[in-house]
Amino acid sequence: KKLVIAIDGPAGAGKSTVARIVAQCLGYVYIDTGAMYRAVAWQALQSAKPTAETIAEIAAAGNIELTYADGKTSVRIAGKDVSEAIRTPRVSNMVSEVAQIPAVRQHLLALQRRMAESGGVVMDGRDIGSHVLPNADLKIFLTASIDERARRRWLELTAKGYQIDLGQLKTDIACRDKKDCERKTAPLIQAEDAVLIDTTQLSINGAVEAILKLCEQ
Ligand code: C5P
Repeated sequence: KKLVIAIDGPAGAGKSTVARIVAQCLGYVYIDTGAMYRAVAWQALQSAKPTAETIAEIAAAGNIELTYADGKTSVRIAGKDVSEAIRTPRVSNMVSEVAQIPAVRQHLLALQRRMAESGGVVMDGRDIGSHVLPNADLKIFLTASIDERARRRWLELTAKGYQIDLGQLKTDIACRDKKDCERKTAPLIQAEDAVLIDTTQLSINGAVEAILKLCEQ
């Protein structure tokens, strides 16, 4: 049987890295829902004064394409490839505002459910197990300490050439987590039937192996 696997957790816990490898191992499709919210945020930043209404219209247009090939996700919005552009600190720092708008969530939810319909998917995000795919075969809640998550993001961004202060990054991540946890519509929450995996002291491979083992059960 082709499973539906949901992976949720706070920023920088290793969700996308782990989800991508699990998908590769199983021959499944990896769906990065954060990239969809980021694409909407990026598009919103292209206009001078985005409002909740205009941002909702961006999501409603539904022209977000996620393609996944050779372990790599590409994201396009309105035909433009934004795979790299959506990873800038500027987008990271405003995406949670965009993700709070109920109409935005509603439109992306429909897209996400459709993408998981045929099974054989690993979907990661904040509300996948709790809201988007409540009937997923396996739900994982991946987390790590805030210090470790900030350190990983810092290494990632520094490798890309960004000059970023670790303390500031930690504050930004904590701020994003708070917004994601406290929003009214589909907040970040561990689903009751999700398995908790703390990666503070666990390698990427360790997390992947734990998930693959759970798939066999
Ligand atoms: O996973 P990533 O860090 O790229 O997600 C970016 C942001 O998108 C999150 O901080 C959150 O605000 C939003 N998001 C969400 N629900 C999801 C996935 C992401 O609200 N399922």
